[in-house]
Amino acid sequence: MDKKIILVTGATSGIGREAARVFLAQGHTVVIHGRNRDKALTVRRELAAETGNSDVDVLVADLESLAAVKRLAEEFTATYDRLDVLVNNAGNQYGGTWQATAEGHEKTMAVGRCAASAGTSPSRASTASTSTAPTPGWRVQTWARATSGPSC
Ligand SMILES: NC(=O)c1ccc[n+]([C@@H]2O[C@H](COP(=O)([O-])OP(=O)(O)OC[C@H]3O[C@@H](n4cnc5c(N)ncnc54)[C@H](OP(=O)(O)O)[C@@H]3O)[C@@H](O)[C@H]2O)c1
Repeated sequence: MDKKIILVTGATSGIGREAARVFLAQGHTVVIHGRNRDKALTVRRELAAETGNSDVDVLVADLESLAAVKRLAEEFTATYDRLDVLVNNAGNQYGGTWQATAEGHEKTMAVGRCAASAGTSPSRASTASTSTAPTPGWRVQTWARATSGPSC
């Protein structure tokens, strides 16, 4: 199997952590994303020990903020020249109550939907590309297509 570069958002627990573990066990390069640096670093250490694959990196961002999504994309593209697989997994229920982010989005939508679409929408504005992206022409740097304001 070709070695892939895989970014898993919300990889510090649950489904995301397990997905990252399986990808590492398969020998891929995995970038785990979390919102808490200490927790993400702990998970990185654990996953490397569990799988014997230390090719695991950490990126940190609170996806309630589209500005943070943009920074996350910039950090990723500063290190990697392509993204083979993006697992938009991060999500939060916020206790079932309506809460707004500082940018004016309902929080569940901001994390589960706005951050994901900001990260994966096609664009020609990028410099980093991949030949194995799911749709020809998609660019990893389009993760930086974050905007502020209530629409996303
Ligand atoms: N489990 C289910 O039955 C089920 C059903 C339907 C949909 N889903 C969806 O599947 C995904 C994974 O579910 P799960 O059960 O594995 O959830 P989980 O264990 O709660 O993990 C969610 C992950 O998302 C991260 N996250 C939450 N809010 C974030 C934010 N504002 N910024 C950045 N990261 C954030 C969490 O970080 P922390 O570790 O810091 O909390 C964690 O890594 C979620 O999107 C969930 O909505 C799950």
